[in-house]
Amino acid sequence: MIVIEKILSEEEVTYYRQQLANAPWGDGSKTAMGMAASVKNNNQADANDESVNHLANQLLARIGETPKIVSAALPDKIFPPCFNRYSETEEYGYHVDSAIMRIPNSAQVLRSDLSMTTFLSDPESYDGGELIISTEFGQQQIKLPAGYAVLYPSSSLHKVTAVTRGQRVAAITWMQSMISDTSIRQNLYQLDQTIQNLIKENNTSRAELDNLHNVYHNLIRQFAKL
Ligand code: NI
Repeated sequence: MIVIEKILSEEEVTYYRQQLANAPWGDGSKTAMGMAASVKNNNQADANDESVNHLANQLLARIGETPKIVSAALPDKIFPPCFNRYSETEEYGYHVDSAIMRIPNSAQVLRSDLSMTTFLSDPESYDGGELIISTEFGQQQIKLPAGYAVLYPSSSLHKVTAVTRGQRVAAITWMQSMISDTSIRQNLYQLDQTIQNLIKENNTSRAELDNLHNVYHNLIRQFAKL
């Protein structure tokens, strides 16, 4: 589980909220599959609306150019972000995200390896609405500042608790990684982060860094499926 700080600036979050407040919204359960639909009670912005589509594409581009996300997810395909909204009493019960998703208006399918939630509402503006992810170390409860995102394995059972005051607006997306195995991907992320930290230290030997970098890319060559 990785937190991405300020994927959107304060000004951008304000702009997103303004645009979404004027966008057409529909029943969120219509876009859920099978068992997930019966526990999903929220609203989703109409992805065919021009302004919503514009925001989705903008966020999609941002995801692709955020080094921490690229390092952690090694994305191959990214689902166009969807915007959802939970008003008072609305929630999304425990569910798993579909393993295979069809990318709208395209013939492409995507295997969901990672899920990402970008928080767009100020945490002070609503109560409840926590993202709960069930992990082998117990439940993780996540509620981040507006403009922050969390990346987590799509294989984990998760839910959004009922909002008891205000509204919670968020963007969600899924990624197919070049590295489908979560533990290999996590090791590659740690290796890359260590290399990035060593680069920042002035006294690291260039030759040793080159060697580490070489190992990192050779591991990607070994494990990446394109
Ligand atoms: Ni989900």
